[in-house]
Amino acid sequence: MQRLEEIWITVSVGILIVFMIIVGYQTFALGMGPPSHKEVIDPQKVDTTAPFNNPGIKEIGDNEFEVVMTLQAFGFTPNSIELPVGAEVHFTMTSKDVTHGFQIPGTNINAMVMPGHIQKISHTFTKPGEYLVICNEYCGIGHQAMSTTITVK
Ligand code: CUA
Repeated sequence: MQRLEEIWITVSVGILIVFMIIVGYQTFALGMGPPSHKEVIDPQKVDTTAPFNNPGIKEIGDNEFEVVMTLQAFGFTPNSIELPVGAEVHFTMTSKDVTHGFQIPGTNINAMVMPGHIQKISHTFTKPGEYLVICNEYCGIGHQAMSTTITVK
């Protein structure tokens, strides 16, 4: 094997090892890996399955809330949510029909909400204001009208 070949093979393997170390560090030390727990639900029985049989906002701690939400063509239930500023909010969501999206522009909330799966995402709203929530997965003829607001004050 030529000297240059050896150098390039060493560099390539070295880069791979460095990438694996970085990804491993992010996944295990920083907890940035994809969620491994999968929670499923029968999409035909969302209305009768807890907690989705009673969607809404619940205070679960000191300025900590759980928002249980269903997404369906073409809306969000509950609609028009109001939360106090600084609240830590845990969204628990599922879809009753097709795949929808849950995106709040200006935040890092961007989730896919699929029938048969329970999607959980947490966020702390530190600034007051009216936050637009949009569906960013094409879900049918009313997709572009599927939106709601979260008012933080
Ligand atoms: Cu729901 Cu697009």
